Amino acid sequence: MTGTTMGTAPLGIIGGSGLTQLAELEVRHREVVRTPYGEPSGALTFGTLAGGEAVFLARHGYGHTIAPHQVNYCANLWALRHAGVQRVVSVASVGGIRADLGPGVIAVPHQLLDYTWGRRSTFFEGPDQPVTHVDFTHPYAAAVREAILAAALAAGEAVVPDGVYATTQGPRLETAAEIDRLERDGATMVGMTAMPEAVLAREIGLEYATLAVVANHAAGRGQSNAGIRLEDINHVLQQGMARVRRILQALLQTHGGA
Ligand code: HPA
Repeated sequence: MTGTTMGTAPLGIIGGSGLTQLAELEVRHREVVRTPYGEPSGALTFGTLAGGEAVFLARHGYGHTIAPHQVNYCANLWALRHAGVQRVVSVASVGGIRADLGPGVIAVPHQLLDYTWGRRSTFFEGPDQPVTHVDFTHPYAAAVREAILAAALAAGEAVVPDGVYATTQGPRLETAAEIDRLERDGATMVGMTAMPEAVLAREIGLEYATLAVVANHAAGRGQSNAGIRLEDINHVLQQGMARVRRILQALLQTHGGA
């Protein structure tokens, strides 16, 4: 994104917990997209934000009713691609494992670990589909990550510029021992939705990166030593998402879309 000419394609924004609406978006229209994979989480919302074109989709539905393991990731990514999106910023709430990732911190992960199971994680299956292996060495698109980091700088919002996002199945939170294992595996944060979202984006040709908002210390860490206080999470997320909105605004302002 940085240094390159922006196309006219709208920027895709997938909102997670705490971001089921993008109030700043001047809505032009909403579209229910039918896909070969079934129903997306909701209608796509098309509009402008800070002068740039955006298409917004709430990952868990606009009423936050779809659990992480029940999200139809294939339909969501297919619908965004169908809408002409080329680049996607996904917003996700996570638990912080590394000590500097405390509640309220925003990070832009650069790597992924996948502990999910039973989720459809490829478009390439079925009798008429050739077996296809995509390169996933670097799961997040460098250009989109750089654009997010530049936008955060422009918006005056401090972000941690890297991180290893471990994706768990949920919807329950982890045990302290599981977090110890994730840390030994190299994870710095934990969430429930990065996979298969990121790999499906890669398969379908979307450039994809994530703004991760730390909602809580992961189980057994910091303030979550004795347990995770779910009642604290909403407040932290609200404040974090206000900062995410400013970053998205700067992103669309600077880059005029995707
Ligand atoms: N674990 C998994 N997913 C999460 C967490 C967590 O602690 N916090 C927010 N999403």
